[in-house]
Amino acid sequence: MIQPKTVTAGITERVFLTPEPTSLVLILATLVLMLRYLTGRPLGKMPPVLPNAWPVLGHLPSLGLRADLAFQKLGKKYGDIFQAQLGTRNVVVLNSYQALKDGYIDGGDAYNDRPDFYSYQLFSDGGKGTAFADDSPAFRKKRQFIMKVFHHFGGGKAHEQLDMNIGEEARKLVTLSKSFNGKPFDIQPYVTVTTLNIICSMVFGKLHDYDDEDFGRVMKNLDNVTKNMINVGVLNVFPFLRHIPAIDTSGREILDNKRKIMSFVNQRIEEHRATFDPDSTRDLVDAYLKETQTSAGRSELTDDELAHIAVELMVAGNDASSYALQWGILIMALHPEIQEKVQREIDVIDPSTPVSISLRQHLPYTHATTLEILRFRPVTPINGRKTKRPVKLSEFNSCYENLL
Ligand SMILES: *[C@@H]1O[C@H](CO)[C@@H](O)[C@H](O)[C@H]1NC(C)=O
Repeated sequence: MIQPKTVTAGITERVFLTPEPTSLVLILATLVLMLRYLTGRPLGKMPPVLPNAWPVLGHLPSLGLRADLAFQKLGKKYGDIFQAQLGTRNVVVLNSYQALKDGYIDGGDAYNDRPDFYSYQLFSDGGKGTAFADDSPAFRKKRQFIMKVFHHFGGGKAHEQLDMNIGEEARKLVTLSKSFNGKPFDIQPYVTVTTLNIICSMVFGKLHDYDDEDFGRVMKNLDNVTKNMINVGVLNVFPFLRHIPAIDTSGREILDNKRKIMSFVNQRIEEHRATFDPDSTRDLVDAYLKETQTSAGRSELTDDELAHIAVELMVAGNDASSYALQWGILIMALHPEIQEKVQREIDVIDPSTPVSISLRQHLPYTHATTLEILRFRPVTPINGRKTKRPVKLSEFNSCYENLL
């Protein structure tokens, strides 16, 4: 009978004492497997690295202010997937529809985490809310809740109310523009009130006037956060700088302004608690109160999480939606012939018809123009994710990487 002990001893002896070719292969294979296990890195082809990285700055100097356009150009030479060094951080750039679809959409939950950027951590207080939170059961609960609320606004009475609010805000903006009698003025703050108001009507169920003081203050705070989030981007790619207080003023201003916005939001939550009627869901805050009254998911949804979700939506309204609308206005002004065609199509509709998304089917040219504006000037041309485990994308292996 063969003793297991003897066999083991035999192999060990053979491997370490008499290195035959087969044993060497065995040793090497074991080492490779161990290395791979230890580093978490699949040993495979990594995406090509852009050349000419500067010390410390990496590829930042060659990307310029419109990194999205620079990436597009570089993609012609380096393909759909490549690595770039932004400051001292390495990122993998997914640079085509196909690469994004294969990764973000068909790649499953491996792609669902958010980049570990300083500004994201700062803004989300370490992953609260949904915009900058990694994928997790709690994240899914929160997202499910938001989707449910959006669904609520997608039909029935809530949808009609939303259409009415949008119509009212649009009318206010037109009246205001007319009041300048053709004289030039800066439309930006008014457009921001418009988009932010629509978001706030979904979150808090209330529209504010252009001269509402509380709302004006919150808008300033939101603007401050948006601007500082851009400034603090430097610290995303030069993480070591954040330890220098004089440089991290942006970070402190974000926290300061966010605290003020949160206090506005918390006041609204308390008002809603006082007037809550379980049979009527006016807005996101009511939906939250109802959800936490009845659901087992109470531990994921807290006042603090709700406030973060509300702030995220407000920042989005202040930023993305507002910019989309401003680009639309500018592009219409620069292309009067297109503007005229759009106007002609809209003029066919009875002016007493309330503004509604359902009119879109009667306005194919207007709809196409809107889509073209969003294509021509995407408001978030670059979007970050992080892989939560090693992934294979196209012919490349990538692991735990920040993706753009
Ligand atoms: C942003 O807010 C801070 C206060 O936290 C203030 O000192 C700073 O001047 C504001 N910046 C802008 C551009 O409004």
